[in-house]
Amino acid sequence: MIDSDFARELLAGLARRPRQIAPKFFYDAAGSALFDRICELPEYYPTRTELALLNERAPEIAECIQESVGEGFGDGADIVEFGAGSSRKVRVLLDALPARRFVPIDISGEHLHAAAEELRADYPGLDVHPIAADFTRPLELPALPPDAQGRPAPRVGFFPGSSIGNFTPPEALHFLRQSAALLHGGGLLIGVDLVKEPARLHAAYNDADGVTAAFNLNLLARANRELGANFELSQFAHYAFYQPGLQRIEMHLVSRRAQQVRVCGHVFDFAEGDSVHTENSHKFSVGGFRALAARAGYVPGPVWCDAERLFSIHWLALPH
Ligand code: AVJ
Repeated sequence: MIDSDFARELLAGLARRPRQIAPKFFYDAAGSALFDRICELPEYYPTRTELALLNERAPEIAECIQESVGEGFGDGADIVEFGAGSSRKVRVLLDALPARRFVPIDISGEHLHAAAEELRADYPGLDVHPIAADFTRPLELPALPPDAQGRPAPRVGFFPGSSIGNFTPPEALHFLRQSAALLHGGGLLIGVDLVKEPARLHAAYNDADGVTAAFNLNLLARANRELGANFELSQFAHYAFYQPGLQRIEMHLVSRRAQQVRVCGHVFDFAEGDSVHTENSHKFSVGGFRALAARAGYVPGPVWCDAERLFSIHWLALPH
């Protein structure tokens, strides 16, 4: 178990100051289920807003994608979803856009394969090809036959939910550059949460039912389950706040008292008030995000926003 990515990164992250761990480790089976519950919360506007936007604008979005990808679109899109989770949102795309294949990539294999089975049942003609992987690492995708000139088939990337916000700005730029290379002259449809009233942002990460707190604390529960750690969950507090200067929500787990914790034979000391930084969730302005995408080699296209301007969906084209 010491040679799992989670073990390695948790041990290194607890030894570092400030203590930190990447948010991708939230998503074991329990964490993915908790995240699905977050998406249903009244305070958590992003999922609902993005889904409504996708539903309302699907014909327009599909037309934009087909036109942008051009003749490489062939008999249908080759759709790649980054961090697919339960693959709920892609159904809207699949209903509006002729697709020959769907490649969902997710770090949580169990969740991924269950969702893939449901998609196969509901879209009989579609080739569903799930890949359980960490998409922040270099990755190879199964190739479709190249065209008559030997050019690889363009792909349509789908990255909803503002998961791009988990990356720091340099990491986001790196991800966008990597995805641009992977998409072979197609493009990326990406959901991006917008800067807004801090109280609204704060509430979205501090829900009344404590589901977000449970999601955050599940990281420690996971360490107990998988690594035999002995975190006492009641002795850590969920703490999430908006940092306007950095345009991001930060989530932390704060030690409620002085305590020692053992992880894989290593002992870590916490003073009262010591924190482990577990997540950043960056928010963007429409213009700021388009500028970032352009630096990564995309050609920013149309942007769709809800009437309250809570959330945005961007089509980022690639030259072909
Ligand atoms: C899945 C990364 C987009 O940042 O809003 C939700 C994760 N964390 N509540 C987000 C999350 C706490 C979510 N993302």
